[in-house]
Amino acid sequence: MLTRKLIIAMMFILMLAAGGVQAGGDAARGAELAADCADCHGDDGKGDEDVPGIAGLDAAEHAKKLADFKGSDSDMADYVEELSEQDMADIAAYYADL
Ligand code: HEC
Repeated sequence: MLTRKLIIAMMFILMLAAGGVQAGGDAARGAELAADCADCHGDDGKGDEDVPGIAGLDAAEHAKKLADFKGSDSDMADYVEELSEQDMADIAAYYADL
């Protein structure tokens, strides 16, 4: 009886773990979406004198910054307007690893 409960608990934990990976964003997909970003932020995401570096930014913080640019008057607004929440999470995951 105990074993059965343990197995159910393990399955539940595994399901949670799998869901967590998804919510954290898919860096490989993010790399494709980030092609436009590299025009300004550079291939390495380090930016230059006019553009801030975004490589290594904490993923949650990065995703929030992107969401906040929507509808703003920043140069960034045009580039985030079409992005879904999953897109922003994926891009953030990609730059967090860079
Ligand atoms: C046309 C050039 C340009 C493009 C393309 C561009 N950015 Fe930016 N980005 C900027 C500039 C300029 C700033 C700083 C201005 C501001 O904060 O309003 C900035 C700011 C940011 C910031 C805030 C940095 C910080 O530390 O506050 C993030 C995050 C960011 N960009 C991510 C991205 C991502 C991801 C993409 C691709 C979807 C992208 N940018 C595309 C020019 C660009």
